Amino acid sequence: MNFTITLTPGDGIGPEVVRQAVRVLDVIAAKFNHTFTYRERLLGGCSIDQFGAALTDETLADCQSADAVLLGAVGGPKWDDPQAKVRPEQGLLALRKGLGVFANLRPVKVHPALVNASPVRAERLHGVDMIVVRELTGGLYFGQPKERRMIDGKERAVDTLEYWDYEIHRIIELAFQLALPRKKKVSSVDKANVLESSRLWRQIAIEVGKKYPTVTLEHMLVDTAAMRLVASPTNVDVMVTENMFGDILTDEASVLAGSMGMLPSASLGASGPGLYEPIHGSAPDIAGKGIANPVGTILSCALMLRYSLKCEKEAAAIETAVERAISAGCLTKDLNGKLGSAQMTDEIIARLRG
Ligand code: IPM
Ligand code: MG
Repeated sequence: MNFTITLTPGDGIGPEVVRQAVRVLDVIAAKFNHTFTYRERLLGGCSIDQFGAALTDETLADCQSADAVLLGAVGGPKWDDPQAKVRPEQGLLALRKGLGVFANLRPVKVHPALVNASPVRAERLHGVDMIVVRELTGGLYFGQPKERRMIDGKERAVDTLEYWDYEIHRIIELAFQLALPRKKKVSSVDKANVLESSRLWRQIAIEVGKKYPTVTLEHMLVDTAAMRLVASPTNVDVMVTENMFGDILTDEASVLAGSMGMLPSASLGASGPGLYEPIHGSAPDIAGKGIANPVGTILSCALMLRYSLKCEKEAAAIETAVERAISAGCLTKDLNGKLGSAQMTDEIIARLRG
């Protein structure tokens, strides 16, 4: 098969991890007889430097017309001025919105060889295997009004947590669909004791849940969820939540896996290309050193193969190769290993070929 993939490596370590992931995709192409045509485009800080905008219309169009988009990371100290008119993160948010990818899937699986890499006690980590489903194009990130204004000599800033019923409905529905072939449990996370939007969220979760009698639905307040994620993470199967809550909870959940560098994500819409990115940021402190962990991006390619390109065998091949490399003790510096980005990828590729 022939697939077009738009690459937006972005800033910091983004280009380094995307480069390694493309090497893995090339091996998949050779092994399974596919052709991947890559289109590389600027996004984030590098796009601001070149074009004055974090996402240009041309780049968005090249993402929309691809079969899938692979993203590295955006942002960095160079563009961090809180007074700045354009910010790298705006590019990422505009891309998510422009692709309509309302569902961000963040699987968190703890590899048995890495239970000691996490600050959470090893006995709590054995068997952790969850997917956090983060709503991605609504909620506190996108609600209007969103502004700063001077009122009678005092400055006021406002963000709005807003949801339409259909936005909640479609994400909850997806969470139940994901739970069906898994452990059949959905944990819906909200703050229904305080927030109106959460009360609508919970009401819709209950409604949708009635259609899935074989799936257990539990409701968790977001503060409780933060605690449960480290106290009893094996009890979570599919966790579904609002955009901002999901942003925070997935950084926390990444600690279970030993390093942020391990975690992939898939962002999906009702149709059109999916957006695939590691959950880590641009890590400016280690950019250019060739030591970034490429696994999150490589596993994002597996999700791309599974969800957008419908190549399940190929997806599983990457996941197995990563698992085997880690079992053999191949680790990057973030996991107290010795391997650089390219060497870690070499080890994964060797197992993909072998
Ligand atoms: C993430 C990141 C982004 C987000 C930033 C870079 C805008 O933290 O993907 O989790 O908040 O969504
Ligand atoms: Mg985040």
